[in-house]
Amino acid sequence: MRALPIKTAAATVALFTASVFAAEKIDFAKDIQPIFKSTCIECHNPKKVKGKFRLDNKADAMKGGKEGKDIVPGKAEDSLMYKLLITKDEDDRMPQDKDPLPKDKIEKIKQWINEGANWPDGVTISK
Ligand code: HEC
Repeated sequence: MRALPIKTAAATVALFTASVFAAEKIDFAKDIQPIFKSTCIECHNPKKVKGKFRLDNKADAMKGGKEGKDIVPGKAEDSLMYKLLITKDEDDRMPQDKDPLPKDKIEKIKQWINEGANWPDGVTISK
């Protein structure tokens, strides 16, 4: 029985930590916009529309590109955007011709899509 209080304490800490992280929802302007701006927009803007995909405004981003819808709100695993971030195929991977995004940024985008890909109206991204 002596070990029990320690286990309980550890479980409480784990639960607490999990709930703190779960409570932290993605904020588009703070978490996502800077990633798109620094690593994606140069190839997905109104003048340079690689893959027929624009990422400078919500309507075009949600509409998708050459392959159709790229962001499926609520379903990162079904979203081509997410698949292109994690693919091992260097020719297909985004951002193209660059190093892959760090894991924490990929996780943020995944969480953003899974939380419904919220993009506040009127927010645009420029180079
Ligand atoms: C250096 C240029 C470049 C950068 C930077 C870049 N992309 Fe792309 N992207 C492309 C090209 C080229 C294609 C088309 C690939 C093809 O059709 O084979 C594409 C296609 C896509 C598509 C698929 C569009 C469709 O429906 O066919 C998505 C989604 C995408 N990019 C997302 C991103 C994201 C997210 C980033 C930033 C993390 C990014 N890209 C950065 C060049 C780029």
